[in-house]
Amino acid sequence: MTDLSVQLGPLQLRNPFLSASGTFGHGLEMKHFVSPDALGGWVSKTVTIEPRAGNPAPRICETEAGFLNSIGLENRGVQAYLDNIVPALRGSEAVIITNVGGASPDDFVTAVERLEEAEEVDAYELNLSCPNVQGGKLPYGTDPAVAEDVTRRVKDVTKKPVFSKLSPNVSRIGDMAKAVEAGGADGVTAVNTLLGMAVDWRTGAPGLATVQGGYSGRGVKPVALRCAWECARSVDIPVIGCGGISTLEDALEFLVVGCSAVQIGTASFANPGLLAELVLELPAKLQEAGVDSVEALIGSIRTPEGV
Ligand SMILES: Cc1cc2nc3c(=O)[nH]c(=O)nc-3n(C[C@H](O)[C@H](O)[C@H](O)COP(=O)(O)O)c2cc1C
Repeated sequence: MTDLSVQLGPLQLRNPFLSASGTFGHGLEMKHFVSPDALGGWVSKTVTIEPRAGNPAPRICETEAGFLNSIGLENRGVQAYLDNIVPALRGSEAVIITNVGGASPDDFVTAVERLEEAEEVDAYELNLSCPNVQGGKLPYGTDPAVAEDVTRRVKDVTKKPVFSKLSPNVSRIGDMAKAVEAGGADGVTAVNTLLGMAVDWRTGAPGLATVQGGYSGRGVKPVALRCAWECARSVDIPVIGCGGISTLEDALEFLVVGCSAVQIGTASFANPGLLAELVLELPAKLQEAGVDSVEALIGSIRTPEGV
């Protein structure tokens, strides 16, 4: 019998597959494609204290190997999440991770304090890394001291596990991972979208109304894999890999570089049933590799001496 379970800090997941925030509904809307119990866990779209309308359209733009988005954290706010989404989570066996965002460290703390009333929420993911807010400028979450401070302040108001989601748009992501570990994070999610842009050379029209936005999907995988590896070798807490994963082989690469679980985002737009398919394919692939558990693969990369 192949053991698909993984340990994610204090959480035990039945398998290493999670949805990526903002790409798989807000609660369990995608249950018609994937049974909630099939996945390791469901990650919500970012919830902020106040409702946000998001950015002007166009805010999605397809490119050669993935797409750009500048959704701008559109959501109906924490109260609407508690009133409308959380009741539908009641009774579900799925591990629910609520992703939280904000314009300041205080916003994160207040949002988590409010969410504490929802026992259906098993853990939090802090979106320290959205490139689509604050006028498209790099957000405060690229500063290790601020990321550490936000993580610590959130940990002070909850006993639930907290995963800090990092941006790839930094020169030393390992330092960011160390900072959130020092702030008490139970794990790191690596990574959010890369800053990118598109333009029509004939008309001069940018692909996104905000000009720059977050690049995701197939094309970002090598960058995301390097970020995940760098995080995994920098900290002792678990790393959740994310970025460009579209196949089972992609997912296994993230496990081998040291991730304890993986999230799938953009690839679910093309195939909303993909996550469930990957879970089903996993046991045979592990057997083919000669291992009887997912844990046996985690961190099995053979990094050359001195690298
Ligand atoms: C349309 C869209 C919306 C997203 N919204 C969020 C969000 O609300 N919060 C967040 O932390 N990440 C958000 N992300 C980032 C994804 O969760 C993920 O980190 C990123 O897309 C890389 O993974 P992928 O290449 O598998 O999509 C969004 C991505 C896309 C494409």
